[in-house]
Amino acid sequence: MYFKFLSKLEFFLLNMEKKIRAAITAIQGYVPDYILTNAELERMVDTTDEWIVSRTGIKERRLLKGENMGTSFMGIKAAQQLLEKTSTDPLEIDLLICATVTPDFVFPATANLIAHAIGANNAFNYDLQAACSGFLYALVTASQFIETGKYKKILVVGADKMSSIIDYTDRSTCIIFGDGAGAILLEPNTEGNGVIDSVLRSDGAGQEHLYMKAGGSRKPPSIESIANKEHFVTQDGAAVYKSAVKYMSEAAAEIMQRNNLSADDVAYLVPHQANKRIIEATANRMGIGADKVLINIQRYGNTTSGTIPLCMWDNEAKFKKGDNLVLAAFGGGFTWGSVFLKWAY
Ligand code: COA
Repeated sequence: MYFKFLSKLEFFLLNMEKKIRAAITAIQGYVPDYILTNAELERMVDTTDEWIVSRTGIKERRLLKGENMGTSFMGIKAAQQLLEKTSTDPLEIDLLICATVTPDFVFPATANLIAHAIGANNAFNYDLQAACSGFLYALVTASQFIETGKYKKILVVGADKMSSIIDYTDRSTCIIFGDGAGAILLEPNTEGNGVIDSVLRSDGAGQEHLYMKAGGSRKPPSIESIANKEHFVTQDGAAVYKSAVKYMSEAAAEIMQRNNLSADDVAYLVPHQANKRIIEATANRMGIGADKVLINIQRYGNTTSGTIPLCMWDNEAKFKKGDNLVLAAFGGGFTWGSVFLKWAY
């Protein structure tokens, strides 16, 4: 009996040790050179630096300028630089997922373009669209392929050229968004590090609060849709703000509770950079101090799928192996969620 119990325990521990988790083993960001400052926005629309900083925390954002430059340009830069610095052979990449709401084309997928450009010719690739939660959705989706043991190297890219769908005469949206990309390499980890748990949610009831009115199959582009400025981000800022505060903080609190994480256990919160006040509300709900909240919104604004990988990239030097990170996001759809991961290097 005693022997039986021991062997069961041993078996359990052995499996615990061997559980394959998907760990981030490298991260790289890319932002374009052009800096759109609040001072420049003051000259474009009726706004002030003081209003923008106090309401959002944003001081400047990057814009991708130039003919024929789409989201893939930034995704390629991030992915290429990641492969270079890790000396990874692109032919070893099994899968590339690109989270984006601003694909180069309706089809083919931006992920196809990125994989082709970096020479990931053995990978299958697809785009994933979940607005500002896109990176989290893609990270969790990719993790499943690692956890099953099916694949060994996956690139997840979060990239958006938000400037391509922003009306620069609309002061309520043009101050918020920017362009940028981040890429991570996911690999198997059997030391207990990597993605531990996730909470992903969505609710299509939020659709009319944050969306693009035309350009899809319901309302294809037309002379009228262009004249009516329907190919730009339309948002009810107050409604989005309210839901973002509620759901992003709820998801972050839920993941802590589910994993018995106290505020002390959390090394850092890596939040989607939508608005400094939304981030602060999430941190308050988690009960963590400002020193654990990673914020770079002042430099890049809201880059949609790019915010979380760009924020991890900016703060990479701070992370230690085994650190508990909570990632949290909210976006159009509505979509939202949180991920608990242990940093692997
Ligand atoms: N400069 C100056 N005034 C501005 C302005 C700007 N750039 N943008 C809007 N305003 C005005 C509004 O027109 C409004 O004027 P009114 O009272 O005369 O109508 C006033 O400021 C207050 O607007 P309000 O919407 O109450 O401001 P706010 O404090 O809620 O901040 C947002 C506005 C857009 C910054 C805020 O609602 C927000 O961040 N929402 C979430 C957006 C978001 O994160 N989207 C992406 C989600 S992933």
